[in-house]
Amino acid sequence: MQSDAHVQQITSSNVKPAGPSVAVIFGASGDLTKRKLIPSLYNLAVSKYLSKDFAVVGFARPEMTHEEFRAKLDQEIKVYAGGSVDQAIWAWFMERIYYQAGEFADPKAYEALKTLLAEVEGRHNTQGNRLFYLATLPSFFSTVVEQLGAAGLVEEQGGQWRRVIIEKPFGHDLESARALNKGISQVLAERQIYRIDHYLGKETVQNLMALRFGNGIFEPIWNRRFIDHIEITVAEELGVEQRGPYYEEAGALRDMVPNHILQLIALTAMEPPISFDADAVRDEKFKVLKAISPMSPEEVLQRAVRGQYGEGIVADTLVRSYRKEDRVNPESNIETFVALKLFVDNWRWAKVPFYLRTGKRMPKRVTEIAIQFHRPPLLLFRHVGVEQLEPNTLVIRIQPNEGITLTFGAKIPGPKMEMGGVNMDFNYADHFGVQTSTGYETLLYECMIGDATPFQRADMLDAGWAVVQPILDVWKALPARDFPNYSSGSWGPKEADALLERDGKHWRHLG
Ligand code: BG6
Repeated sequence: MQSDAHVQQITSSNVKPAGPSVAVIFGASGDLTKRKLIPSLYNLAVSKYLSKDFAVVGFARPEMTHEEFRAKLDQEIKVYAGGSVDQAIWAWFMERIYYQAGEFADPKAYEALKTLLAEVEGRHNTQGNRLFYLATLPSFFSTVVEQLGAAGLVEEQGGQWRRVIIEKPFGHDLESARALNKGISQVLAERQIYRIDHYLGKETVQNLMALRFGNGIFEPIWNRRFIDHIEITVAEELGVEQRGPYYEEAGALRDMVPNHILQLIALTAMEPPISFDADAVRDEKFKVLKAISPMSPEEVLQRAVRGQYGEGIVADTLVRSYRKEDRVNPESNIETFVALKLFVDNWRWAKVPFYLRTGKRMPKRVTEIAIQFHRPPLLLFRHVGVEQLEPNTLVIRIQPNEGITLTFGAKIPGPKMEMGGVNMDFNYADHFGVQTSTGYETLLYECMIGDATPFQRADMLDAGWAVVQPILDVWKALPARDFPNYSSGSWGPKEADALLERDGKHWRHLG
């Protein structure tokens, strides 16, 4: 009880609403808008982080009136709010929602948008500040930015800000990411571009910096002298669901590694920044990404494993193979699982392997970072028959069951000197209660207040793609011949186990 009161006090005394603005969502009739963006903006209104001078304009292809758009969102919020909807706040929110139909490439639609914005900005006193959210298909990103530029909608004048959030995937490979960056930087200054990675909005991911740099005990041992290896797992129970066409183009490597997983590595491995200023933090993350040595083709063959799920049992249900999913090529060679062994070649991490794995149709949903420390010297305990002491592991549970666990050895009570592993556990929900959040609230808020810390900078993305590109090249040149090579409901192909076994290690048993 005491801790709850304390947490509430911290939250309420810190509430500082963002300044006035209008959020323009491109792709407003799509999934992301109904599942994440509108619920997040509504949640920000509930927690008083949204300015009272705020409005939303949805832009998409289907013809709809403002009223029809509001009625659609009114139905959807009940499903996606993640809890009961406060009718008074929702009514206030709905009054400031507008809609503009148009083709993304049609200059006339942007002229119409301009007229609507002038009206909305006047009515809601949003002071000319604009947040453009590109929730469209990736193939429209450059078109929308170009058109925004041509219509004069993103010029910053007289202290007004104009910012553009761009969804992932940002590019398809190193070359296309560079081309996209080049194209949008002709219209926007880097400070106006917010490349989103929703992992950076997760509380547990943000807590990585708090854990490392807000405590005195971790930093001294956070290096190769004390750490044996780091293991990152991002496992999903789900298959590709309705996203066959996207996934056939992307695959697990592009979908998860250059963005989410490399961000987790960057936060785990970075040096302390000189301040929490956006560029100070991003400079340190960038250095980590640059220090990951890109693999040679031979190294790709040894240190990169790919897999594709076959039929199997997940959550007691028989599920079909990837090749039988909707709108997937029945002979597809796209990977749904990746395991890699990477090195961050710098003073702190030299020779410490970073093992990572991500896959769909795994036995359970779990994302965690496990820091495995060196084994203790055994000599002291040999005379009492303790054969092998388990190494200490610090596990950062990103989701679900968010929290942190430290495992260590303790004497089992009794006359004999016997040791067993025990856990010291911190559970977010026990301490802070369960928060209603989609994970996008923080990111939207940070963009509105102009803090780009949790967003990707152009150089970071470039460095991320540079890590992945050699793997894409080898896999393209040598298509997999053994797909499907793991059953749904398993932890991936046997080659993923072999990757660690060759180093005398094994993946953590996650159930
Ligand atoms: C997305 C990927 O970026 O992240 C999806 O495109 C994946 O394929 C999702 O399922 C995972 O996100 P989360 O928040 O559920 O871990």
